[in-house]
Amino acid sequence: MSPHRPTVRVFPAPSGLTSPRWPRAGAEDGVALQWTSTLSVGDEAIDAQHRELFVRVDRLHDAMLRRERAEALRLLAFLRDYAVDHFEAEERLMAETGYPEAAHHAREHEAFRAALRGLQDHFEERGLTAALVLDLERRVVGWLREHVYHSDVALGRWTRRERAPAPAGPG
Ligand SMILES: [Fe+2]
Ligand SMILES: [Fe+2]
Repeated sequence: MSPHRPTVRVFPAPSGLTSPRWPRAGAEDGVALQWTSTLSVGDEAIDAQHRELFVRVDRLHDAMLRRERAEALRLLAFLRDYAVDHFEAEERLMAETGYPEAAHHAREHEAFRAALRGLQDHFEERGLTAALVLDLERRVVGWLREHVYHSDVALGRWTRRERAPAPAGPG
């Protein structure tokens, strides 16, 4: 796979996990998430940030599965900073366009920041455990998929409508 392909693979939770690695689920039972133009929010900067988030979360997942502790910590720190900047950009867009769901959307952002903080704390206290990888899959990969597919795409529909030229009135 090209390292630039913006894909987040979602893996089913392994049962009775005894090894830090388990077979990669692949496409047969994992749910592939790929950034496509249908996920565009109508703002080039935000779309680029989503692609970057997908790529980095995917790399973090790989680094954890490969037990690359330093790389995983580096990516986690990057993602925490990047998420702050990204969410601020979306929250500015919501404020500029008077988005009615802004408060709910911002609470979802806070949940993601809390999930990343929780992962980093877990990592620093207990190391790279299987539970940490499961948490990443459920709380970070799962969140990203749901939030971009639903909340960010809804925001995109709104901003496109708000930015569209007003129809000419009668007369
Ligand atoms: Fe968002
Ligand atoms: Fe977003």
